[in-house]
Parts: sequence; structure tokens; C-alpha cells
Amino acid sequence: MARVQLNQLVKDYRDGHKGIFRAVKSIDLDIRDHEFMVLVGPSGCGKSTTLRMIAGLEEISSGSILIDDKVVNDVLPKNRDIAMVFQNYALYPHMSIFENMAFGLKLMKYSKGEIKQRVEDAADILGLRPLLERKPKALSGGQRQRVAVGRAIVRQPKVFLFDEPLSNLDAKMRVQMRTEISKLHEKLDATMIYVTHDQVEAMTMGDRICVMKDGNIMQVADPLTLYNKPESKFVAGFIGSPPMNFFPGEISHQDGVTRFHASETTASPMHVIIDPKQNHDFSQLNGRKVILGVRPEDISEARDGQSPHLQATVELSEPMGAETYLHLRNGDQSFIARMDCSRRYQSGQCLSLCLKADKLHFFDPESALNLSINRSSS
Ligand SMILES: Nc1ncnc2c1ncn2[C@@H]1O[C@H](COP(=O)(O)OP(=O)(O)OP(=O)(O)O)[C@@H](O)[C@H]1O
Ligand SMILES: [Mg+2]
Repeated sequence: MARVQLNQLVKDYRDGHKGIFRAVKSIDLDIRDHEFMVLVGPSGCGKSTTLRMIAGLEEISSGSILIDDKVVNDVLPKNRDIAMVFQNYALYPHMSIFENMAFGLKLMKYSKGEIKQRVEDAADILGLRPLLERKPKALSGGQRQRVAVGRAIVRQPKVFLFDEPLSNLDAKMRVQMRTEISKLHEKLDATMIYVTHDQVEAMTMGDRICVMKDGNIMQVADPLTLYNKPESKFVAGFIGSPPMNFFPGEISHQDGVTRFHASETTASPMHVIIDPKQNHDFSQLNGRKVILGVRPEDISEARDGQSPHLQATVELSEPMGAETYLHLRNGDQSFIARMDCSRRYQSGQCLSLCLKADKLHFFDPESALNLSINRSSS
């Protein structure tokens, strides 16, 4: 049982002759008891630094970290009741799997009986029981990763920290381990904080996801809120694969109808009528420059009688099995649509397309904030 709070947490690194580099810029985050919180963001955004500060492996420059309402800034790592699983989980090659998992407990002077019990329980949870006598070199990558998780489980910590634990595994093993860690979270009564730069991992594993960029938190929300109501263009483009498409343009309001006109499409014009049901009144934005965001699945071919929003040429068709990703171009603007797999497309083919009117996002080109969501209620 553990709640983890970060209050105005800052990390400054000394950066040679250039002075100070601020890797984490006064972040606030409240991780609930038993929550699976994912920290996600591009390389260098401060995920590992944040995790290492929670573990006590990195000194805090300012701010505070609370575990169960107690400030732990000055508490030694070993006394924080936290276990961390790293990307590079060095197992001791000369020790058996049992000994690898038991090692930490031995140092903590647990009795032989208690150690045996804990290691066997963890081995059962992770399906490692038949492998306990083997040496690490006789295990597959996925099995070794499970041993690394096992070493954390035997300590029965209040909080688990994972720093990209699956990035050394092949794609199939990653999916399998992802499910195992999620199941483990269901089984154990622990709070988990999981760092990744893989947004699919973030979406599938997190109760909530904290998106970071340049040492700042951009948004914290459950996966679907993040997907459907991204507060900024950065979050909109980071979450989702293939990513959201962006079209720079302008909004006009005439005769009671609000429209978006793309500015970069030169081959043929792009006009989209904005759904009046959108919870933001876009007529207020008459004449304003915006960036329209639309996800690949919200683009479709115009049906008979439907007036298209834009024309585009197929540059590449990628059949994925269940669906086809179409790489499209209209003038300077390239974008991706996700289409039904039953249709075949040829390069050079011209398509008339419609965008789903109630799924459009509009971003301010200056602030990059999403103008189409009501931030206070999201
Ligand atoms: N010891 C250090 N001294 C100076 N700068 C550091 C140090 N450790 C990290 N940094 C810098 O702090 C920033 C954040 O690093 P961090 O390791 O937290 O990133 P990350 O989000 O985990 O990235 P990745 O996805 O690549 O692991 C980076 O710009 C990094 O270069
Ligand atoms: Mg990292």
C-alpha cells in the first residue's frame, strides 16, 4: 500500500563548463495507492531521472518526494521500501536463478526458511519454478527478464519502479512480458511506476499515463482520455500509432457555417465543415490560424453523395492484415489514413476523402494547446 507524491520536484545536473542543466523542471505528480502509473516521453525527457529520484539513487535538487504522506527526501534507498527493475538487469552469472533471486534477502539477513518461501512464491508467480537450479546463461532473454522482476518481487516492496525493463527483448517477448507485468500488478498489492518510451506499452499497461517532454509533465490522464482529449499537439502526436495527422490552416465563419481551410494543400483545396456539436464554439475563431489534427482512423473515402473534404493521391499502401495504412499526399501535405483491409489501393490512385467531423482537433499554432477541448472539465 503506497501513495507516491512528487511536489515541485527539480533535478539540476552540473553540465561541464556550460553551468547547470535542468533535467526535471518542478514537476507535480500524485500516484495513487495501487496505481500503475506509466511515465512516457521521448529520449532525454527526464523519465529515468525522475524514477531514480523516487528510488533515492539520485539526489533531489529541490522539491519533495512523499511516500504514504511522509517526506522521504533524506531516507536512504534501502529504507524506502521500493524495488527497481532496470533495463540492464545484470544477473550474477555464477549463481543459480534461486541464488540470484535470494541474494538481496540474504544481505537483509532473512532466515533461510523465509528466503526459500519468498523465492518459491515469486518463482510460481513468474513461472520460473522449473528453472531455479539453472544458471542465467541457460535461460532465454524473456526468462532472464522474469528473474530480474523476481528479484524485485521477493522483497515485497510497497512500490515497484520499472525503467524500460522490456527494451532488450524481441517484439513477441515484449508483448508476453507486458501482459505478465500487468497480471502481476493485479496479483500484488503494490504501486507500480513504469518508464517507457514506447507509447503502445504505455497505453496497454497504464491505469494512468504521465507524458513528459523536456523535463516537464505535458499531461496526466488515463489512456483513453489521453487519446481522445490530448491537451496539446505534442501529446496528440506522441500517443497513437500511426500518429495523428496535422494540417495547418485557418478557420472561417460565414452564414452560420464554420469551416477549416488548409493552407499548405496546393494540389486541390481542403475545406472541412466543423461539426457545430463540438463542445467548443469555433465561430469565435473566425479568421484565426489553427492546426487541424485528425487521427488516421478518422479519415475515410467519401461515400456516394457525400461531398469530399479533400482529394489525395496514394503514395504507398501498407497492408497490415486487419487494416491498411495509406500514405497519402495532397500538394505539400502528406498524411496517413487507416483503411479497411478489404479494399486494394494502387500507388498514384486519386481518392476523395472525408474527415469525421466530430473527431477533429484544433491546435493553436503558437501555444500548441488544443482549442477543441474544455481543459477544466477534462
Ligand atoms: N549524470 C548526468 N549528468 C548530466 N546530465 C545528465 C545526467 N544524467 C542524465 N542527464 C541528462 O538529463 C536528461 C534526462 O535524462 P534521463 O536519463 O532522465 O532521460 P530519459 O527520459 O530516461 O531518456 P531515455 O528514454 O533515453 O532513457 C538528458 O538530457 C540527459 O542527458
Ligand atoms: Mg531512461
